[in-house]
Amino acid sequence: MTATNLPGQPHIAYQGNTLCMEGVALPDVAAQFGTPVFAYSKASMLSALAAYQRGFAGRKVQICYAMKANANLAVLQIFAKAGCGFDIVSAGELARVLAAGGQPEKIIFSGVGKTRAEMKQALELGIGCFNVESEAELEVLNDVAVSLQKKAPVSLRVNPNVDPKTHPYISTGLKGNKFGVAHERALQIYQRAAALPGLAVVGIDCHIGSQITEATPYLDAMDRVLDLVTDIEAAGIPIHHIDFGGGLGINYNGDTPPAADQLWQQLFAKLDARGFGDRQFMIEPGRSLVGNAGVCLSEVVFMKPGEQKNFCIIDAAMNDLPRPAMYQAFHQILPVTPREGQSTVVDVVGPVCESGDWIGRDRELNVQAGDTLAVLSAGAYCMSMSSNYNTRGRAAEVLIDGTHVHLIRERETAADTFKGEHLV
Ligand code: LLP
Repeated sequence: MTATNLPGQPHIAYQGNTLCMEGVALPDVAAQFGTPVFAYSKASMLSALAAYQRGFAGRKVQICYAMKANANLAVLQIFAKAGCGFDIVSAGELARVLAAGGQPEKIIFSGVGKTRAEMKQALELGIGCFNVESEAELEVLNDVAVSLQKKAPVSLRVNPNVDPKTHPYISTGLKGNKFGVAHERALQIYQRAAALPGLAVVGIDCHIGSQITEATPYLDAMDRVLDLVTDIEAAGIPIHHIDFGGGLGINYNGDTPPAADQLWQQLFAKLDARGFGDRQFMIEPGRSLVGNAGVCLSEVVFMKPGEQKNFCIIDAAMNDLPRPAMYQAFHQILPVTPREGQSTVVDVVGPVCESGDWIGRDRELNVQAGDTLAVLSAGAYCMSMSSNYNTRGRAAEVLIDGTHVHLIRERETAADTFKGEHLV
């Protein structure tokens, strides 16, 4: 049987006329678990991680998976076993890391709105670092730490004011964004942090955005951060680690982001040239580790020809796959068992009562009701951003490892969706 590989999807291919992930036929997954169902390739996640590890060979780097991209316990378990730490943004994520076997000291806590309760919990557990995003947060964290008689390890997230050239909703390193502290104020805030009794300055942090497909914004941001490290250390405050955030893009639709190892070769060339090559580094990748490891399988419910548009109505919707509705994002859509013959141009849409509930527009497909489609690049920011809108239970999730299929999340029932609600 001939295998037809798909660009950007090393672990998904047509074997003859059947779309497979690793050694498993995807039509079988849909038949066994029902649809919609997310399937993730373990080999794909590990090979994405390996690209970073190659780029870091011989360097001191801790990879902290940004678990907001995909927080399923089994996914976290894979990364924890591979030595990763985690970038978290809530007490909920902290609980997930612990449930999956992650180590507290490898956790970094990001986010602009950490509550006192979250700070306390993280301090008591002994997490590795708080990435502090404002002066107000710095004062409150100091307060909480002093009351616990602890010292909170902190990095300041600095805003390098670099344009990552991505969608405005996922660009975070510009002056108008809510994230981080201004580059110009950073030294002053570091001096304040160093003077507070409940804080221990350990590093510096920066994250400029997501789905970045060029190296230049990274190289520019690195220059800005290194300038600051020089100034902060000249003021007598040692910076033990440099956290360079996440943001590396993936190939959704012919996008050509740099490979992780090549990007880091370029970054280390700069670091070496400026004398910072032997420092401790951290990174927080999310999408680039899991995005192209996942597909969402969905059944065609009806074909609905129209005067202006033909619709292909599937059983997955914006509550399962929110990225097209939120960011006009493109996901490739393929039949798991292609038919012979003519395709037509259709809008692939879900059953939710919103015109914004579309998954793909103007796609050439030859499909009929009952066929199964695969929505690609669905490993990141799909299930983790899913909702119960229209009282739709969340989809099931499976992990594919060679020829094994593990159910890693059960499909939600209607009763699950109103658990915890009360009649009066
Ligand atoms: N570190 C911080 C502080 C972040 O805010 C993020 C993502 C990451 C790391 C991981 O970035 P990544 O490597 O995944 O690009 N929902 C949007 C993406 C939102 C990203 C939020 N922050 C989407 O579906 O495109």
